[in-house]
Amino acid sequence: MRILMVCLGNICRSPLAEGILLNAIRNKKLNWTVDSAGTSGWHAGEYPDQRSIRIAAQNGIDITYQRSRKIVPEDFENFDLILAMDKQNLSDLKTYFGTNENNDEKIRHITEFSTLHSGKDIPDPYYDDNGFEKVYRMLENCINGLIEIADDH
Ligand code: 4NP
Repeated sequence: MRILMVCLGNICRSPLAEGILLNAIRNKKLNWTVDSAGTSGWHAGEYPDQRSIRIAAQNGIDITYQRSRKIVPEDFENFDLILAMDKQNLSDLKTYFGTNENNDEKIRHITEFSTLHSGKDIPDPYYDDNGFEKVYRMLENCINGLIEIADDH
């Protein structure tokens, strides 16, 4: 299973999603590939946001190896699942890859896999210093659900 996590800047939410999933698949010894990217290239080449680095570290996860990048057309072939953090990301991804509800199962909203947050967005924490803890907990629940659903892949 090859999974790409996507948000707007690829510095706050999707780096956390990548780190949490990578940690989970290592613990479960699953042979999955994980990466993350942004729908924008605004922060391309940058480290994750310090606030994401901190909340990850508090939970025993290192995300400092990551560097922001923008999505590229080949991502559509190179990943089995492309997971959006919010509805705007989802819509931007479908526009970018030229897909729609009728021809694509690959591009999904990450909260689809959550037992607690289905239908909600992972809120953009960029302008909310206190939002990172909530984002982390939401992503953890989504990723637990994802691992269970996809366990046999
Ligand atoms: P992310 O957060 O999409 O979770 O990485 C953001 C990062 C940067 C900006 C917005 C959201 N920005 O406007 O630069």
